Amino acid sequence: MRLANKVAIVTGGARGIGQAIALRLAEEGAEIAICDVQPSDKTVAQIEELGRAALALKVDITQESQVKEAVDSVMAKWGRIDILVNNAGVTRDGLLLRMQESEWDMVLDVNLKGAFLFSRAALRPMLKQRQGRIISIASVVGLMGNPGQTNYAASKAGVIGFSKSLAREVASRGVTVNCVAPGFIVSEMTDALTEDQKKALLDQVPLGDMGLPGDVAAVVAFLASCDARYITGQTINVDGGLVMN
Ligand SMILES: NC(=O)c1ccc[n+]([C@@H]2O[C@H](COP(=O)([O-])OP(=O)(O)OC[C@H]3O[C@@H](n4cnc5c(N)ncnc54)[C@H](O)[C@@H]3O)[C@@H](O)[C@H]2O)c1
Repeated sequence: MRLANKVAIVTGGARGIGQAIALRLAEEGAEIAICDVQPSDKTVAQIEELGRAALALKVDITQESQVKEAVDSVMAKWGRIDILVNNAGVTRDGLLLRMQESEWDMVLDVNLKGAFLFSRAALRPMLKQRQGRIISIASVVGLMGNPGQTNYAASKAGVIGFSKSLAREVASRGVTVNCVAPGFIVSEMTDALTEDQKKALLDQVPLGDMGLPGDVAAVVAFLASCDARYITGQTINVDGGLVMN
């Protein structure tokens, strides 16, 4: 119970990796607010089964007013925010020459601007508390690139640079800012790949298998805990060794 009495916001927690993160933080004792454009009832019910309180907030993280309202709701319910996990993300893949401006804007808006808006809104209470954890889910694609994902890679590399700069801004106020960069994780996104595509991807992974959402969630829980008090500005890869820094 490393996170007892902590309050966490998880964006994009209705399903996938965000859902696994929300459940893991709850298992470790945190109360959880899920902020997603989709209904989060399933995740909320599972958190409540664990004996923790949960709040489902319908939020489009690209909209400043909705983000502000969400943070206000969390403050009204619990009076503090200890952990923010910027997890919500989208892909709109395509080779650059065929990429529409709307596909570029959509990916940058959700993956990068959403992290900016939520971090800025959650930071104020964290600074007052002189304690906080901001953890953003990046991707190995932001480190190594991937054909067909110029928009996604730019957004994820952007999140990493954003986090390093913010880490330097707020370190003296007790707030740490880190990223987790997943590789190939079992998810709805990777379910769509053919067996041949999966094999080609896995040939590049030294540990030879895909990761699970829980593998990402375990690292987020560590970064959110006091065990990680001396870690800031870092990106931890959860990728079976695909990228070695
Ligand atoms: N699945 C992978 O293999 C993988 C690998 C590397 C990084 N990631 C990153 O991990 C994160 C989670 O990925 P996932 O596979 O669970 O994706 P997912 O599509 O299953 O879940 C993403 C969640 O974000 C929500 N969301 C999307 N746009 C939103 C918006 N504007 N406002 C609020 N919520 C919004 C969705 O409704 C959804 O619940 C993403 O940031 C993704 O880029 C995933």
